[in-house]
Amino acid sequence: MYRLLYWLVLRWLPAEATHRVSFALLRAAVVLPGVARALERLCAPRAPELRVHALGRELPGPLGLAAGFDKDARGVRALLALGFGFVEVGTVTAEPQPGNPRPRMFRLTRDRALINRMGFNNDGAAAAARRLAHRGAGTIGANIGKTRRVPEAEAIADFTDSARRLAPHADYLVVNVSSPNTPGLRDLQAVDKLRPLLTSVRAACDLASPTRRVPLLVKIAPDLADADIDAIADLALELGLDGIIATNTTIARTGLATSDAAVTALGAGGLSGAPLAARSLAVLRRLRARLGGRVTLIAAGGIATADDAWQRIRAGATLVQAYTGFIYGGPGWPRRLHRELAAKVRAAHLASIEQAIGADA
Ligand SMILES: Cc1cc2nc3c(=O)[nH]c(=O)nc-3n(C[C@H](O)[C@H](O)[C@H](O)COP(=O)(O)O)c2cc1C
Repeated sequence: MYRLLYWLVLRWLPAEATHRVSFALLRAAVVLPGVARALERLCAPRAPELRVHALGRELPGPLGLAAGFDKDARGVRALLALGFGFVEVGTVTAEPQPGNPRPRMFRLTRDRALINRMGFNNDGAAAAARRLAHRGAGTIGANIGKTRRVPEAEAIADFTDSARRLAPHADYLVVNVSSPNTPGLRDLQAVDKLRPLLTSVRAACDLASPTRRVPLLVKIAPDLADADIDAIADLALELGLDGIIATNTTIARTGLATSDAAVTALGAGGLSGAPLAARSLAVLRRLRARLGGRVTLIAAGGIATADDAWQRIRAGATLVQAYTGFIYGGPGWPRRLHRELAAKVRAAHLASIEQAIGADA
């Protein structure tokens, strides 16, 4: 039904407006008595084979919603009710900011892809923290980034401000240094800048949450050179980082079915979805080769099917995340993907999906 609605109506509407309206409808629906519970009963992953232990938690399934969909932590309960095993909110910045001028999100339907230059539009860390303070059960990560107007010299203070506010309410924290839409942000992936940043954010988390150690992860770009990926992997070990998310969107525009002219006309931004899959998988494989199972790897980038998720898990990902696959797949997609993934685990004669992690590495 969603596919019909998508082909008849949704694909003709501006991408950001469609997102805003459908997310608002979903949030409104779960406020109605009994709806959230009914959705959970219908959609939540229940197969015992799908249960995963990661980042100090037990998750009902390995598929999570990637950052950017619920930037302000407005609809976590609704998103978990659709069957995601976990939800990552953000990117949240220390100060509220409007993001880039619209339009800033575009569908490349033929490529099952999106281009976005949202630019971290969000209400700021204090507002997100207030909402998360009333969160319910389920695993929720908080993804933090740099406020646009803050110069690089003050980036650490900006990140630690967000960490301090959000760590007490999050099950894990992600330092996002890989969005292409905040000038200079990706430069922070250089290890001589990343080391002091991650060390300070770790300290801020420990100060803000003294009795519960909040796992800390870093999210990296697919456009890094191999040597830089290796350097970040080594840094993760050096600092005792809990995980790496690979990857964010790409600035590349290769291998697209959409015409060059049409793509150029859309302008700058990060490309996500199917065309990103091969590179994200390659980055994941490189991390796994360097790290083995010592650091938790979360795969993101072009995951649209159970085959995609299974391949990432076998390549070394403990968890997987998606954004674009959800946009094209609709509200029934997380449930479908988890169901098909459980069938794969059973077909492989495994008792648990955890036994498949890194099987191909
Ligand atoms: C519209 C849009 C907004 C996004 N915003 C963020 C963000 O704020 N922070 C972040 O870390 N990643 C953001 N992402 C990247 C996704 O979290 C994900 O890493 C990337 O899109 C690759 O996964 P996908 O191919 O499943 O979409 C955004 C992606 C899209 C499409």
